[in-house]
Amino acid sequence: MLVLIDHADVEEIKALYDEYPYDGVTTNPSILKKVGKNPMQVLKEIRRVIPQQADLHVQLVSLKKETMLKEAQHIWDELGKGTYVKVPVTAEGFKAIAAMHAKGITNITATAIYTAMQAFMAAKAGARYTAPYVNRIDNLGANGIETAKVIHSMFRLHNLQADVLAASFKNSQQVLELCKAGIGSITAAPDVLRSLVQHDSTTNAVGVFTTDFYSLLGEGKTMA
Ligand code: E4P
Repeated sequence: MLVLIDHADVEEIKALYDEYPYDGVTTNPSILKKVGKNPMQVLKEIRRVIPQQADLHVQLVSLKKETMLKEAQHIWDELGKGTYVKVPVTAEGFKAIAAMHAKGITNITATAIYTAMQAFMAAKAGARYTAPYVNRIDNLGANGIETAKVIHSMFRLHNLQADVLAASFKNSQQVLELCKAGIGSITAAPDVLRSLVQHDSTTNAVGVFTTDFYSLLGEGKTMA
């Protein structure tokens, strides 16, 4: 399962990469708003600081198919052809996904997905990734985890060349559930990502080991 960073603050992204080799970065307009700087400059800086092979998913904001296609081209021109363009699954978004697919473009991430069938239809139209919003789906009284699992199995059942990029998490338990189900990828905010790798009990256990070793050989000593 690919694990991506859903964030746009460059310093935080650098700090996260310093802690763990993540698989890429996703952003949306609201995430970019939080940074409060020129979005394309921020995205270029993110592209520069993350590893070359790491994926970058960037959401377009145009509302009509034709302008979506122009905006997508601009994103690829500025950030590289490997960039995944996130297209919301509006009526115009579906048209744009189909038009990109017809041109042989594969770097498409269908986003703002709230139902399994939206994801299915987006994959059929040509999206490589589909992003169901797990926590937002839960907040609507439906089941976000179940929705992501259903999408995952429908893709396999129907031999669609698409994967789930599950988004919108509030805790590590939701990520675990999708990991157990074999979901292709997830993207989460820094606090959720850190909760996947850090645990107070681990820190406490290491504290005891260190104290015991120092009491044996002296403060600051190691095996070296
Ligand atoms: C990613 O594609 C989504 O834009 C994002 O994860 C939504 O997360 P949120 O529900 O926490 O805003």
